[in-house]
Amino acid sequence: MGLFSRTKKEAGEVDFSNLPRHIAIIMDGNGRWAKKRALPRNAGHAQGAETFRTIATYCKDIGIDYLTVYAFSTENWKRPNDEVSAIMGLLEKYLYEAIDRMERDKVKMKFFGDPAPLPPKLKALIERTSDISTHYDGCQVNVCLNYGGRDEILRAAKSCAEKLAKGDETAFSEEAFSKNLWSAGIPDPDLLIRPGGEKRMSNFLLWQAAYTELYYTDTLWPDFSKNDMNKAIAWYQQRDRRFGGV
Ligand code: IPE
Ligand code: IPE
Ligand code: MG
Repeated sequence: MGLFSRTKKEAGEVDFSNLPRHIAIIMDGNGRWAKKRALPRNAGHAQGAETFRTIATYCKDIGIDYLTVYAFSTENWKRPNDEVSAIMGLLEKYLYEAIDRMERDKVKMKFFGDPAPLPPKLKALIERTSDISTHYDGCQVNVCLNYGGRDEILRAAKSCAEKLAKGDETAFSEEAFSKNLWSAGIPDPDLLIRPGGEKRMSNFLLWQAAYTELYYTDTLWPDFSKNDMNKAIAWYQQRDRRFGGV
């Protein structure tokens, strides 16, 4: 394709007919948002949960197929107990409400990460939400909870090694490996958004993000708006994805 034959939109303008299929978000900056307002960190998490509601609904409304959000990492257990409990409590609250709204919203929810160490009430809600979700095929929201990219890769490697030991010679292709990740069957993210100003992956989707476009913004997650989402999508639509080709 020639340099001038492309009809690209003006910067900042979203082409809603050509959206990324899969958007991933590292929901970061809740603590700093609270600190700026002299509020406890947990107030930032509460506001972050509100933002998640708004952005997930927006993604569903504009027709994004997959939204994957980083809610709690395998490293976030290092935080003080009261902060961890507050985050778990907010997740429970969110899932209660999500279950109520699911029939109307037709949003499908999946969870990436090992649920074993999560509080029993939250684990039960995850199971219920996942069960109800099998009936819907709208926008799929993947919530990464006790998720770590390295942990995910190690688990997949173990499971492939077991298959190989049983004589399955095909167990270690890229395609076969991907089927053992939490994200099995889901296309890789096209766009990854990290609010909060840090430019790092923090152990998120290490395998899946090999060719993902990375968008960073200083806006803190609790302040992140639909307009910020549009800016990120418009930025993505200006990228030239070569996947190693020309
Ligand atoms: C992200 O916000 C939420 C979680 C990691 C659970 P932070 O709590 O990391 O907020 P900052 O980075 O301290 O501002
Ligand atoms: C990444 O944010 C994890 C989540 C948003 C859930 P962190 O705040 O934990 O990442 P670091 O510590 O800045 O790398
Ligand atoms: Mg952070």
